[in-house]
Amino acid sequence: MTRPVCAWINLEHLQHNYRLLTRLAGEAELMAIVKANAYGHGMALISNALYNDGCRHFGVTDAREGAELRQTITDTDCMIALLSGVFDLQDAHAAIAHRLTPAIFSDMQLALLKQAGFDGSVWIKVDTGMNRLGADDPPRLIEQCRQHGISIAGVMSHLSCADMPEHPLNRQQADRFENIRRELCLPASLLNSAGMITLPQHRGDMVRPGIALYGAEPVPQQPLGLKPVMQLSGQIIHIRNVRRGEYVSYAASFQAPHDMRIGIVALGYADGIPRLLSGKGQAMLNGQRLSIVGRVCMDYTMLDIGAHEATVGDTVEFWGPHLHASEVAGMANTIAYELFTGIASRVPRRPRP
Ligand SMILES: Cc1ncc(COP(=O)(O)O)c(C=O)c1O
Repeated sequence: MTRPVCAWINLEHLQHNYRLLTRLAGEAELMAIVKANAYGHGMALISNALYNDGCRHFGVTDAREGAELRQTITDTDCMIALLSGVFDLQDAHAAIAHRLTPAIFSDMQLALLKQAGFDGSVWIKVDTGMNRLGADDPPRLIEQCRQHGISIAGVMSHLSCADMPEHPLNRQQADRFENIRRELCLPASLLNSAGMITLPQHRGDMVRPGIALYGAEPVPQQPLGLKPVMQLSGQIIHIRNVRRGEYVSYAASFQAPHDMRIGIVALGYADGIPRLLSGKGQAMLNGQRLSIVGRVCMDYTMLDIGAHEATVGDTVEFWGPHLHASEVAGMANTIAYELFTGIASRVPRRPRP
């Protein structure tokens, strides 16, 4: 028996988002960012669907994810980029064995690739203002790569504030990147999802959307018309009639103000429902919003069914097409990225029939 819970994956919505982003990318190629299990959506399911729709570039975090993805994307003409590069010799060997394209930002990474005998290509990571990852001296690193038979796929940088179109750092980063690009004369990639909206003129040779593929609007004030790919849902497994004055869930933090019907769903914080939704989150039942009452537990969440018709076996949506992940994230003081990637491995991901 399995618990009646699921992250349903709508591959038609994924296709809609991918095609929309491809149009937005114009002449630039699109690297689909599928790291962290495709932002929690299931890497094999998502990548396979994107490949079938024409995607030929994929971005993951490290060699472990890259090796896993290569089992799905067996066409070695398809690039699998490692955005964090290699961390040890084993990673460097995996990059060779699975034809992966690591990013590189340090001498140590180059040393590992050299030692393993890597002779593929790499992305040079440059910092333009985020102060996260970036080579100290990109021209020197490029020169050394070439000396050791490593070719350069291109130069990439990452934006810090692309979801804040008015932020002056966007322009600064774009200007710095253009200078580097001109100096190095290499294929260039700067934009993530939000960047494709905020700095469309800097599409360069490749764009790297992640969150937009999954249907969360990267710049909510400039919606693109994306469709949510995931619907996280669970069935009501039990209904309790709670009398006025009784308590619900841990710490007795909720006391029933009147007689109530409480529906219990077998999804809790160990599945990825943020505990911060305790007493303030919502979920959808047949187009109606239900309030989460009391503390979210490890395996369960309690909902005020109110006057709604509801029975055991009814399906409740925690986020998806009827209650957007970004809204839920706002209630939990976080972002849709964290909701998606926080879904536990014990929650099955299935393509929506
Ligand atoms: C280097 C890099 N490129 C692209 C992306 C995709 O970003 P987004 O999901 O905001 O489109 C990420 C995500 O963190 C990243 O780290």
